[in-house]
Amino acid sequence: MLQRLLPIPIYTSQLPSLLRARALLLTNKLYNVKQSLMATIPKQRVSVIGGGGNVGAATAFALIAKGVPAEVLVVDVVDKAAEGQALDISDASFMMPGTCRKGTFKEAGQSDVIIITAGARQQPGEPRSNLIDRNYKIIKSIMDSLQPIKSSAKILMVSNPVDVLTDIAQKTSGLPRKQVIGSGTYLDSGRLRNELSEITGVSPTSIHAYMLGEHGDNQFTGWSSARIGGRPLLEHPKMKDINLDEIYEKIQRKAYVIIDAKGSTYYGIGICAATLAEALLNNTSQVFPVVNYVENFGCYMSWPAAIGCDGVEQSFDVKLSKDEDKKLQTAIAAIKDACSKYE
Ligand SMILES: NC(=O)c1ccc[n+]([C@@H]2O[C@H](COP(=O)([O-])OP(=O)(O)OC[C@H]3O[C@@H](n4cnc5c(N)ncnc54)[C@H](O)[C@@H]3O)[C@@H](O)[C@H]2O)c1
Repeated sequence: MLQRLLPIPIYTSQLPSLLRARALLLTNKLYNVKQSLMATIPKQRVSVIGGGGNVGAATAFALIAKGVPAEVLVVDVVDKAAEGQALDISDASFMMPGTCRKGTFKEAGQSDVIIITAGARQQPGEPRSNLIDRNYKIIKSIMDSLQPIKSSAKILMVSNPVDVLTDIAQKTSGLPRKQVIGSGTYLDSGRLRNELSEITGVSPTSIHAYMLGEHGDNQFTGWSSARIGGRPLLEHPKMKDINLDEIYEKIQRKAYVIIDAKGSTYYGIGICAATLAEALLNNTSQVFPVVNYVENFGCYMSWPAAIGCDGVEQSFDVKLSKDEDKKLQTAIAAIKDACSKYE
């Protein structure tokens, strides 16, 4: 009974009764102090634009379920969809530090992190690049509706084609380049690490391997830079007879397989977007393969970068083979060409 009253576990059977009563009092006092302190700390705000849809709702839910102590605003051009998702997700927040409600575009413009998931999604078999004309107009109108945007805000683009739309969001938001990033190949890299984990028997979190380039047809695997336990991944004994092209194809096809089976993908990208938002809010300086402006390439590109509360803190040089470098140059040319049409 006493154990149930205590907000943190204490091995009560080991304490004499007087001590137990004092421990209960003290613990409850500390708990109350913690609660009142938490109430005085203003929550950071994360807005999800397009939150009425699948990816936006999965992202907002992931923020709450991960325990991010933020106020999550769900914003959508379809007000009822935003309201429904926000109410549903708020039910999930009752025992978590975050909160969730429907928000307006103006409130979103004053957020610490603005996640954009609004826009058309791929139809079965459709390449991501097809979405650009439709989503360009949507992103431009969203940026207008968000104004004035808080000068310290960070924008995280998720809508596709994410590389080009990140560039458009930066230009139309007026924010510095390092404050505007895109989810890029973080999801694809997660898929890769899961595959490599199956093969090697090592946890995906201990495998450092990236999908790089474009989040789309021009992405490639950075095999030369991949590491496991401080050694090149390709030297791992279980990688000896593996067909690398088959792994690449499987990663590349996965979104199409999911879309074909259930219409859209959202859980994986939801957790990726929430993790990136968490890095931006908590200044974690973790390295992610995200869309960021790489000076050496002169364009936005999915490339490893350390992410903190100012946005991109550092971008990295990645060791590439000749063949990988050729693929990188193709991706740079494709992204630059697409961006030049939307100056
Ligand atoms: N980057 C990735 O890895 C990744 C993964 C999956 C999906 N996506 C992309 O995410 C986007 C959303 O996909 P989805 O499955 O959630 O689609 P969806 O149709 O379920 O949701 C899109 C939402 O955007 C809203 N919207 C449209 N115009 C808007 C505007 N002007 N302002 C605010 N909201 C607006 C719609 O009302 C809808 O609720 C697509 O572009 C898709 O390709 C990206």
